Amino acid sequence: MELASPPLSERRIVLGITGSIAAYKSAVLARELKRRGAEVRVVMTAGATEFITPLTLATLIDRPVHSDFTEDEHAGVWTNHVELGVWGDLIVVAPATANTLSAMVHGQCENLLQAVLLSARCPVAVAPAMDLDMFTHASTQDNLRILESRGVDIIDPGTGPLASGLVGKGRMAEPKDIADQVEAHFQRTLPWSHKRVLITAGPTQEPLDAVRFLGNRSSGKMGFALASAFADQGALVTLVAGPVSLATPERVHRRIDVSTAVEMNNAVQTCWADMDMGVACAAVADFRPTLTSDSKWHRANMPEAITLEENPDILHGMGQSKSDAQRLVGFALETDEGLDSAKGKLVRKNLDAIVLNTLQDNGAGFAVDTNKVTVLNKNGQALKFDLQAKDELAQKLVDLWRTTLIA
Ligand SMILES: Cc1cc2nc3c(=O)[nH]c(=O)nc-3n(C[C@H](O)[C@H](O)[C@H](O)COP(=O)(O)O)c2cc1C
Repeated sequence: MELASPPLSERRIVLGITGSIAAYKSAVLARELKRRGAEVRVVMTAGATEFITPLTLATLIDRPVHSDFTEDEHAGVWTNHVELGVWGDLIVVAPATANTLSAMVHGQCENLLQAVLLSARCPVAVAPAMDLDMFTHASTQDNLRILESRGVDIIDPGTGPLASGLVGKGRMAEPKDIADQVEAHFQRTLPWSHKRVLITAGPTQEPLDAVRFLGNRSSGKMGFALASAFADQGALVTLVAGPVSLATPERVHRRIDVSTAVEMNNAVQTCWADMDMGVACAAVADFRPTLTSDSKWHRANMPEAITLEENPDILHGMGQSKSDAQRLVGFALETDEGLDSAKGKLVRKNLDAIVLNTLQDNGAGFAVDTNKVTVLNKNGQALKFDLQAKDELAQKLVDLWRTTLIA
């Protein structure tokens, strides 16, 4: 089974709409951002509400739209513009009028949207929309240059027939193109952007008969936490998962569910060559029963002994075919201190780093939500991470590998 999570999942976007005829396209943009998984809040200027009703936008984003400083003047209820500016991961002003662009340059605070823009901590993008002479006017061009120099993303308008009847540059970019640029923004600004990462997670199950298998106690939690941390940092994650009962983390690009080591090996082989990095976190069975039965063994027809044959060594295969540009990290679970054994595995399997966890440590290893690990690097460096939640640890490992492996 393959699942893809929407590209803007868990991204919070404040959509600012200003008083341009292009405001009607913002309804399509709001819907498109939602369709791509974003959480959207809308702030409209008074001018924008002349062109499209707040009700239309509120219905599309499934929450009230903000257009005024006060929500209930008599009760003294006001819209917290600072909260909106802090809530968003990105503010997109589309359409952005000449007036609002100018207000942004001069730090005006005459309406709610301007206040949100002034108090925003997140990046801002604007999609100008106006008549061609307004767009080419030196004031507008100067304003755009200033905004760009302050880090605002300018989503270039298109050329074509304008509402004024003239033809030229000034049409707001199409909603789909704006949504593409929003996606690109998140890709660009995250540390693992454009990096393709393959993660294996969970146990494998090697069938004995129709109902029994040889397996292990791996829950997949560490691998899934890593998949989530990599995806949060912008990586394009392919997660190959053994039988686990875990939901696919948000933003993981692709999940391939497998059961046996052979299936996991096949899945890894199909995509490893396209990856920038591999993290082999799965607890793969080294052996599988030589003979399996399609029906259930009963006491009367139980085999006298179970013979085993070797499974493919997935990590070894990845290490052997690894290119100079690829990075590979393995996991080692040992029942004793395990440092020497992990160092041996690092070299034998041609890894760049290995993460050692030992069952000697309380709270580390299988099925628990915490882990305590030592990361050994190819250059002999060893880094210890104290007992902590697997989610937290995953974030630290992803940060570590960004600087030590992919710098
Ligand atoms: C029919 C009509 C269409 C307009 N279209 C635009 C436009 O596309 N771009 C623009 O910058 N201003 C346009 N304006 C002017 C703005 O609405 C006006 O400058 C307003 O003050 C903008 O306020 P705001 O930026 O707070 O929304 C238009 C005005 C009218 C009456």
